[in-house]
Amino acid sequence: MTVTIVGTQFGDEGKGGMVDVWSGTADVVVRYQGGDNAGHTVVHDDAAADGGTVSASATDSSIQTSTEYALSLVPSGAVRGKTGVLGNGCVVNPETLFAEIDALRDRGLDPDVRVAERAHVILPYHRVLDGSEEEAKGELAVGTTGNGIGPAYEDKAARRGVRIGDLLDPAVLRERLEYVVPHKRALADVHGVETGAAFAVEELYEQYRRYGERLAEDGMTVDAGAFLADRLDAGEKLMLEGAQGTHLDIDHGTYPYVTSSNPTAGGATTGSGLGPGVVGEGEIVGIAKAYLSRVGTGPLPTELGFVEGQTPAGGGDPDAGELADDIREAGGEYGTVTGRPRRIGWLDLPQLRHAARVNGLTGITLNHVDTLAGLDTVRAAHSYELDGAERSTVPAATERWAACEPQYREFEGWSEADWAAIAAEGYDALPANARTYVEYVSEAIDVPVYAVGVGPDRARTVIVEDPFEG
Ligand code: GDP
Ligand code: IMO
Ligand code: MG
Repeated sequence: MTVTIVGTQFGDEGKGGMVDVWSGTADVVVRYQGGDNAGHTVVHDDAAADGGTVSASATDSSIQTSTEYALSLVPSGAVRGKTGVLGNGCVVNPETLFAEIDALRDRGLDPDVRVAERAHVILPYHRVLDGSEEEAKGELAVGTTGNGIGPAYEDKAARRGVRIGDLLDPAVLRERLEYVVPHKRALADVHGVETGAAFAVEELYEQYRRYGERLAEDGMTVDAGAFLADRLDAGEKLMLEGAQGTHLDIDHGTYPYVTSSNPTAGGATTGSGLGPGVVGEGEIVGIAKAYLSRVGTGPLPTELGFVEGQTPAGGGDPDAGELADDIREAGGEYGTVTGRPRRIGWLDLPQLRHAARVNGLTGITLNHVDTLAGLDTVRAAHSYELDGAERSTVPAATERWAACEPQYREFEGWSEADWAAIAAEGYDALPANARTYVEYVSEAIDVPVYAVGVGPDRARTVIVEDPFEG
């Protein structure tokens, strides 16, 4: 069977952590879209591996020693020794992939990563053009990660991309580069950027041919759909790990302030080569934060405070800056990839209803319930008011979305607690007010709760249902 993990908000909901929690019984973990714009954190309390960080807080039941991994391309199941597959829907920067694999090896892991021959390659000119396009957009900039994601998907759609399989055949690689590089040089010219080695066919050919050799030597390339179908036929369990989130989806998100792929569950089928029936008969678990965070520009109707350079003009709530700072600090809300401070807002139910429908969610995890501890009042936007009418889901036009006035429900807060002990004991041990909040969310979107996150650590997850057991 398959379990698909999708982000329900703007990314960074804690998908990597939940993949880690539930991949214990999985055999293969598949990334189906995105690239090294993702940053997925896995924290667990195995002090044996190198690079561990020690953290202790007064409310812990014991002093916790934890090991943290921040993964961009390697699927999060690598931490548990699971085979990882980068599906055809991914855009792969071989340089960052190999650097990540090598760094994990240095820390004592032995990641088994396979890459779809049909996945597209991010080349150095994609990164340069990502930056110059953002600069050219000025006020309309998306605030991308700068990793060449959009330009690589653009080339894929324009049928001039280089695929992983092309790296294995030097003649094909040369032919592709000779066609595409002049396009890229012309575009660089339009943007007024220097073209150096990043736009030189010969240099690119030599470097990427070598990446192809390493992929072949390490036996890393696969026909992903066929590979995964064989594993399913053998009775294995597959986990599909989405990157980004529903509202960053190029079709279903806040276009144009989105990424260039489909993080939603439909992407799990087109991006892996598994049929829609296969993914659809499995579980699809949405991951949400108990509040909102967003990196980059675009609307965020429930935004608290504002972040210079990211919050659009007229957005945010300057009076709530202190509250936003408190939540940002408590939740460690700084980008895993870029280090940028994340924008903070109250939970938005219209957004979650949209995510529940678009993805066909069978369950939800509400993370960061511990982060809100200590607040007197917790708020959630139950609906919006737009043009004098109430609406319970998001408008399709992004500018209309930005004009929505959140209609809040208020909840009594909960106090700091011994979260490790609560997670060990189970759902009923959660503070009563936290349970009221979690149950409100579940009822408002009509999706059952599968887990509640009460800390970054694997062991600080209150598990209600294991989707592989359901
Ligand atoms: P992803 O991109 O969806 O995998 O999420 P990120 O790893 O980018 O961001 C989530 C951050 O929150 C990471 O630092 C996690 O360790 C942390 N985290 C995840 N769940 C929880 C939770 O329930 N409580 C707290 N305090 N931190 C969490
Ligand atoms: P994970 O998988 C949060 C955001 C960027 C920008 C927009 C487009 O860790 O949840 P891109 O580089 O993809 O063209 O940027 O999408 N973004 C993310 N925000 N989490 C992510 O991934 C993101 N990946 C991209 O900040 O606003
Ligand atoms: Mg992330």
